[in-house]
Amino acid sequence: MSDTQAAQELERLAELASTCTACGLAATRTNVVFGDGSTRAQVMFIGEGPGRNEDLQGLPFVGAAGQLLNQLLSEIGLQRSDAYIANVVKCRPPGNRDPRPDEIAACKGYLVDQIRLIDPTVVMTLGNFATKLLLKEERGITRLRGRAYPWWNRIVIPTFHPAAALRGGASVLASMREDFALTRATLDGRPEPRSEPEAAGHPVEQLELFG
Ligand code: URA
Repeated sequence: MSDTQAAQELERLAELASTCTACGLAATRTNVVFGDGSTRAQVMFIGEGPGRNEDLQGLPFVGAAGQLLNQLLSEIGLQRSDAYIANVVKCRPPGNRDPRPDEIAACKGYLVDQIRLIDPTVVMTLGNFATKLLLKEERGITRLRGRAYPWWNRIVIPTFHPAAALRGGASVLASMREDFALTRATLDGRPEPRSEPEAAGHPVEQLELFG
């Protein structure tokens, strides 16, 4: 598929999503936050779900967590506009509660199509929800981060959610910097500098995201 076709297809999907009523979050949202960034990005980020600012503006990661994400990107020589940013759920859960399994399931098709159309080399999952959705893992982000997982001919690099770094302080931020450096090294084709090696994910089960 050409770049133009992929961009057109993404626009069509965003249009479709803008009137989506597949789950209860449709009733309380201001805007659907479909995604933002380069449709040809080599790196895609997947967060949890829109917060208040995102819901109001219709764009992902525009608040304090977004500023941290922009900073971490700049530290590995990338701008936000080089990346593509999306969320597990496209509508704000009221009061920023966790997204529910039925809401995640109802929204999953959009994310699958976004990954397929953007076709990134590296997917960075931000926090537990995105990481567990892609890697089909019970273990939490603290255990899973720090390494790269082969996933559908791509690389998934899990890291903390930026909001956790804003809450959790220096050690969370230091871990995120390591994970972003791993993304840089992966894009550059350098061997992985690994911090805490964990057993690999389960590639066969991971396929279920697309199944
Ligand atoms: N947190 C998320 O997970 N996504 C956003 O878009 C903003 C904050």
